[in-house]
Amino acid sequence: MLSKLKNKKVALLLLPGIYFLLSFSYYQIQDDKPTPYSLPYDTAYLPKPNIPLDNPLTVEGIALGRLLFYDSLLSVNKTQSCASCHNQNNFFTDAGKNVSNGALKIPDDFNSMPLANLAWQTEFFGTGEQNLWKSRL
Ligand code: HEC
Repeated sequence: MLSKLKNKKVALLLLPGIYFLLSFSYYQIQDDKPTPYSLPYDTAYLPKPNIPLDNPLTVEGIALGRLLFYDSLLSVNKTQSCASCHNQNNFFTDAGKNVSNGALKIPDDFNSMPLANLAWQTEFFGTGEQNLWKSRL
């Protein structure tokens, strides 16, 4: 009987703490809005970058993109990341190779092209297929 009363008292004491923690984490989630990122560029020489209106730049989005770019978990056998072919040390190409090899060592028709200033580009890949990257990735 006495221990049941003690348990009730402990529960009553814990309830406000649990309520406080839950409302605090709810507040945290509500406040977790992405931080807008403004791409720095010289407006005197360059036109406005081609950023899709439905996918604006954010600090968190850029960090996630960088993380995924170097993550080999994205490939079929977890051996290859974007950076395997678009090597930052070679201007984001696989310089020196005639054609790129996929994760399964199957050669592509092309070698990888440099990834630079793509925010100003509207057509992608050697054949200029517009927005093909959305269907490839
Ligand atoms: C197996 C090697 C390989 C991997 C891995 C790879 N790429 Fe590529 N990438 C290429 C090749 C080859 C091309 C050129 C293809 C063409 O011209 O059709 C290319 C082209 C591109 C282009 C077009 C650039 C332009 O100027 O038009 C983009 C963007 C791109 N890759 C991004 C990525 C991203 C992001 C990843 C990871 C999700 C990735 N690539 C992974 C080989 C690779």
